[in-house]
Amino acid sequence: MLVPHIHHLQGEITVPGDKSISHRSIMLGSIAKGTTEVTGFLQGADCLSSISCFEKMGIEIENNPAAGTVRIHGKGLRGLTEPASTLDVGNSGTTTRLMSGILAAQPFTSTVDGDASIRKRPMGRIMTPLSQMGAVFKSLHTENCAPFTITGGRLQGIRYESPVASAQVKSAVLLAGLYAEGETSVTEPYLSRNHTELMFETFGVDIKSEGTTATVRPAVELTPQRIDVPGDISSAAYFIAAGLLTPNSEITIKNVGINPTRDGILTVCKAMGADIALSNVKNDIGEPVADITVSSTSLHGCTIEGDLIPKLIDEIPIIAIMAAFANGTTVIRDAQELKVKESNRIDVMVKNLSAMGADIEATEDGMIIRGGKPLHGATIDSMADHRIAMSFAIAGGLAEGDTEILGAECVNISYPDFYGDLYNLM
Ligand code: S3P
Repeated sequence: MLVPHIHHLQGEITVPGDKSISHRSIMLGSIAKGTTEVTGFLQGADCLSSISCFEKMGIEIENNPAAGTVRIHGKGLRGLTEPASTLDVGNSGTTTRLMSGILAAQPFTSTVDGDASIRKRPMGRIMTPLSQMGAVFKSLHTENCAPFTITGGRLQGIRYESPVASAQVKSAVLLAGLYAEGETSVTEPYLSRNHTELMFETFGVDIKSEGTTATVRPAVELTPQRIDVPGDISSAAYFIAAGLLTPNSEITIKNVGINPTRDGILTVCKAMGADIALSNVKNDIGEPVADITVSSTSLHGCTIEGDLIPKLIDEIPIIAIMAAFANGTTVIRDAQELKVKESNRIDVMVKNLSAMGADIEATEDGMIIRGGKPLHGATIDSMADHRIAMSFAIAGGLAEGDTEILGAECVNISYPDFYGDLYNLM
């Protein structure tokens, strides 16, 4: 993909549905008894992986991308059947980890595998608590990695102190907790996104949250629901950054999820001095949504750390781009999780932003960006990481000259029409 210099951006845009909520709608819909109807479902490759895995376990799922609806004919908590072949999670860490929480309780053995990126990502973080609950894991190639088999069984509730603030770990344990004997709780160092807890409540599960601890009691049956998935703030983030950084621009992004465990990008924008406004704020489905309007602003650097990190973990690549164009220094720390995402996002950001002329340095747990240096076009390897490709499409549009993005098609993971939507605002 060749990205030319962009002169200005103007207009309204609706970004695709939230990836986290879309995955959870398939999983809870599959283990609820009856039909769950989802609108605004993200038709990205990751969420399609979740659909195909649950179809392999006997769930009928009617996906109608043209209408933007998905109907899941759930068979109840104990209705999944043994898959005849490997559950292929593609590039999706969320599918792998959340689904494992459900597989941990099934009376059969399943094999889980994915692409080259998935095979490198740490799965010990779910294997440890789910094994403590009673599941049996076997890594087939590399210890604590996919591919692995998981043999489910009778589970025992646990109190798990997670060493990482990870919604995927928390959700895996809570999903297993639906089937366990007694209460299951997860405490994390900082609060991660709480979509699982909110959706559990909607489906009638007994779940409580207090501080950074979530506690679930075993379920008898989940009640099917209608779920209207809001726009993904992680996808909106690229247009927030583009609207702020491109001269003479104003963009409104409609119907974006602004759950407080996800809205760290808004906090950072304000700290950087951004002209950003929310309107039409609604909270119909337990998940707050709003329209976000951004206008060109001269930004300044800031420090991003601590409990803010899980609230913007997927937005750090685009925040790093904003920091490169801002005046002054931006420090990102406590973000060592970036090393185990779809790529090592500390290394990849530093390498690619340096290639464009930015002053950026990797640290053990983040990066330091001394902003304000003029950036020039370069050849950028996305490392098949969707968030890297989208971040550098925005950086490329702002830089002088042309930028070439290698592996640009990986945006298909979370935002298939990304380039078209960007083009439409020019
Ligand atoms: C997700 C949680 C986060 C995030 C990922 C989606 C989820 O991962 O990076 O894109 O839907 O639960 P971690 O739980 O590994 O932080």
